[in-house]
Amino acid sequence: MNALLPKAYRLGYQNFYGRDFLVMPDVLIPRPETEQMIDAVLNLIGKPYLPGVKPSTAQINPKNLKILDVGTGSGCIAITLKLEIPEAIVKATDISPEAIKIAQKNAIKHGTPLPFIISNLLKNVKFTPDLIVANLPYVDQDWGWLERDRLDFEPSIALYADNHGLSLIFKLIEQSAKRKIKFLILEADPCQHAEIIKHATENDYILRETRGYILTFCSLQVSH
Ligand SMILES: C[S@@+](CC[C@H](N)C(=O)[O-])C[C@H]1O[C@@H](n2cnc3c(N)ncnc32)[C@H](O)[C@@H]1O
Repeated sequence: MNALLPKAYRLGYQNFYGRDFLVMPDVLIPRPETEQMIDAVLNLIGKPYLPGVKPSTAQINPKNLKILDVGTGSGCIAITLKLEIPEAIVKATDISPEAIKIAQKNAIKHGTPLPFIISNLLKNVKFTPDLIVANLPYVDQDWGWLERDRLDFEPSIALYADNHGLSLIFKLIEQSAKRKIKFLILEADPCQHAEIIKHATENDYILRETRGYILTFCSLQVSH
């Protein structure tokens, strides 16, 4: 076995938000910075997410809240959200059929069989979620600080995007605005945040919170 193969692929699992998820080289290894996306959603619905930290006043009622995870990979975000917010309706998409198969296995492992949809962004999504969460590929191939030895083991389709890493995030913002999606929670490198906030603002989203790598937007088009 290649000594450089990331530990998670050697073991076949990675911990995310306190639970183990199956991972194989067809999916990105879940990252610790993505766990804050779960905290951002819990904060939005007014649920405690850290001992001793009071969540904000709830913006939305979690009962039957329709959440869509775009670019689900191993399914770690969607499955964790369903386990943390059982009263919500959670669905997930990915463009990669191989990733969807692994996400389905993880959903069964955690007792949360969710609907998984193969889709390029929102193309095959036939309903209107209240909230989209997305950790889409945002790595710019030209960043000088990339640890290519490690990243080369993960699927390129899960990591890289054109336009300095922003093309998919920008498209998702535009598609979400057209469909009047109320809340959008996105992960990106902090060096990309200013450009994302500008693009979101041009599409009638206002920034509600920044939390590490995670940006929470709400739409000005929809009354809350
Ligand atoms: C950075 S990985 C995130 C995986 C997982 N959500 C996580 O946080 O660990 C991005 C995922 O987006 C998927 N993806 C890439 N392009 C996509 C597109 N156009 N539409 C939907 N999913 C896409 C990839 O297959 C990959 O699973």
